[in-house]
Parts: sequence; C-alpha cells; structure tokens
Amino acid sequence: MNVRRWLTVGAVALVAAGALNAMPATAGHVTDPADQSLRTLGMRHDLFIGTAVDMAALADPADPQYREKVAAEFSSVTAENVMKWESLEPTRGTYDWGPADELIAFAKQNRQRVRGHVLVWHNQLPGWLTAGVADGTISDTELRDILKNHITNVVRHFKGKIWQWDVVNEAVSDPWDNPPTLHYKGFWAQHLGEGYVADAFRWARAADPKALLFYNDYNIEAFGSGNPADDKTQFVYDMVKQLRDSGVPIDGVGSQGHLGTQYGNYDTFQVADALKRFGDLGLATAFTEVDVRSQLTEKVRAGDSNEINPRLQASAGNFSVLLQACLSSRHCLSFTVWGFTDKHSWVPTWFTDPPEGLATLYDENYQPKRAYNIVKADLVFAGAPYVLPRIPQRPRR
Ligand code: XIL
Repeated sequence: MNVRRWLTVGAVALVAAGALNAMPATAGHVTDPADQSLRTLGMRHDLFIGTAVDMAALADPADPQYREKVAAEFSSVTAENVMKWESLEPTRGTYDWGPADELIAFAKQNRQRVRGHVLVWHNQLPGWLTAGVADGTISDTELRDILKNHITNVVRHFKGKIWQWDVVNEAVSDPWDNPPTLHYKGFWAQHLGEGYVADAFRWARAADPKALLFYNDYNIEAFGSGNPADDKTQFVYDMVKQLRDSGVPIDGVGSQGHLGTQYGNYDTFQVADALKRFGDLGLATAFTEVDVRSQLTEKVRAGDSNEINPRLQASAGNFSVLLQACLSSRHCLSFTVWGFTDKHSWVPTWFTDPPEGLATLYDENYQPKRAYNIVKADLVFAGAPYVLPRIPQRPRR
C-alpha cells in the first residue's frame, strides 16, 4: 500500500469512526475495529502478524478452535518444530517432508506467508548427526559438507514457498555462559569455526534467490552497554554489519522476543532504536517468537487475582512495547508470536523451575487476554504521522 492510499484509508476510517459514534447503538452495520482480526488490522500497516504452529494441535479434530484461530487471526505462520533438522531428517539420507508440507498447504489455503524455521541451530539436531560427531565417525570436514547438503536440500524443497528463512539461529553466547565474554557458541562454532555463519547464508541464497534470509536470536531487543563483550545486541549488530560489508547475502535480523514479566525489560523507544539501527544497515527486521511469560507462584496457581492481574497486565505491556517498536520501523516486516494460546505454549514445559506460564495472547480456553486486546488496540490506533506502512525488503544478491 502506498502512503497516499494509506492516508486516504486512514481519513475514511476517521470519518467512518465519527459516523459510528453519531449512530444509534443498534445501527451496527459498520465493522467495529475490535471485531476485526489481527491479520486484517495488521494489513493497515502492511505488517504480517504471525504465529508458530504446533502441527499436532492443528491436526487435532478435538481442538477445532486451534485451527480456526490460526487461519482467522494470522497472516503468517512458522513451524514450531517440523522444519527443524531432527524432524526433517530423522534418519540419515531419509527426509520426512510430510508435516512441513502440510503447513505449507495450510498457509496457501489461508493466504498466509511462511517463515522457515530453522536451517542451522545447535538444538534439535538428529541423533545420527550428534552421535556421529561425538564418536568421531563424522569428521569436521564431512560435517561441513553435511551442513551444506542439508541447507541446499531443505531450501530447494521449499523453494518459492518461504518468505523469510531463519538461516542461523542463536549463534551467540549469553553473559551468563562460561566464559562470560560474548562469543560464537555451540556445536557449529565448535566444529566449523565462526565462518559457518557466512557459509550458511551463501548456501541458502544459492538454493533460493528469492527468500529473505534472516539471522535470528533472543535477548537482542535493545542495546545495552554498547560493548560487544557483554552487550549481545551490539555483538549481533557488529556480526551482521560485517556480513553485510563483506557481501554475504543476509537480508534481515529476527529478534525472538521471549520476555518475562519478572525482568526489567525495555520501553518502546529503546526497542525502536535497536530496530532502526539494524534498519540503517540495510537490513529488514522482524519479531519472530514473541511471548511474555510469568512465574506461576503458588498464589497464581491457586487463582489469586491479586497475583494474576499484574502479571497479565505486565505481559500485555511487553507485547505492546515490541509491537509499537515494530510499527515504528518501516523495515520491521512481521510480528510473530510463539504460540497464541496458553493451551499450546512451550513455556510451561520448558520453564519448570520455577514454573512459568501465562505467556500468550489467549488463555487455555481460547479467551482473548489483555495481551490480545492491547495488540489489537495498537494495530487499530497506530497511524500517521509516526507510523507508516512497511517498506518491502528485496533479497540481496
Ligand atoms: C521450541 C519449541 O517451541 C518447543 O516445542 C521445542 O520443544 C523446543 O523448541 N527459540 C527457538 C525455537 O528458536 O525454535 C524454540 O522452540 C524456542 C526458543
């Protein structure tokens, strides 16, 4: 949508809203923005609103609301697990494309874009690969060939069907790791050295020249000290700048956005500043895995509203910070949540000590929470002059 059309639409909406206020309450034939879906409201900004999809829940006939909501509320989908290496190639040389292809078909049927997740990550690797490396039957030289083949096969299989690929995920350590000085961490860096990052982007581009290629990580929502030794955002910034400067085909940075209400977190302007700085490098940005969890204390579990309400409120507030920052940056292309209902969220199974949950937009019965309504309100009320439509990103050659 160009700016002029967008402004016209805005003006018409204002007039319509004025008319709506003047109408008797019974006249209800003008669609109230609160009755529109997130995906429809996102399109006012050319912003894609996405969710991670749990394929078991999507296929469960006893849980029809899951499927209905994915289709109705979201314009983009990400496979929560079925495009990870252990799912795609559980046995060496034998690919199982079934569940991932089902998601692609679902997305097509519902006119949704697909974020491909994930090509290179140190988690959820197949056993044959990690065991082979551990017992020395797979050498580091062979490992590099295996990675190249994997990226090539997977990107080729989905060629033309993926909007954004998470090419490399979570390559950088955290300040609480040992050693605490930030560094390239994990399986791939240990065996191939940091050069695997640039290689991965080149191999992905060769297999699909049109998909946007992203680096994806957590705890990069805002800059900290500015010292790459302890500021992960700065480390990632320096890394992607160097990749850009040396002609590596990277198109974007994905900020996962896994937040917790017990932490300090950020305000909108800090997050907007980070997005702007990545944007100024010529990169698109996206929030790729947003959820805002809380500790489930005994009182929370007992249903004490004095304990529950501030958590729901704080969760909503953090969703809003990330979304408003994304809206403010014309290079922020999509806002994806990592599951949309507390019924199907990785948080309670992953964060158990202490137990955490309440991290998504809908409760376990598919009732919208404050977080859902704040996201919707942001999409409704954000507009010119500060919020303008997205600028599409073109894949870098
Ligand atoms: C998580 C899934 O949600 C879980 O179902 C799975 O057991 C583990 O992985 N960062 C990522 C995602 O990039 O792939 C992770 O997804 C969550 C953290």
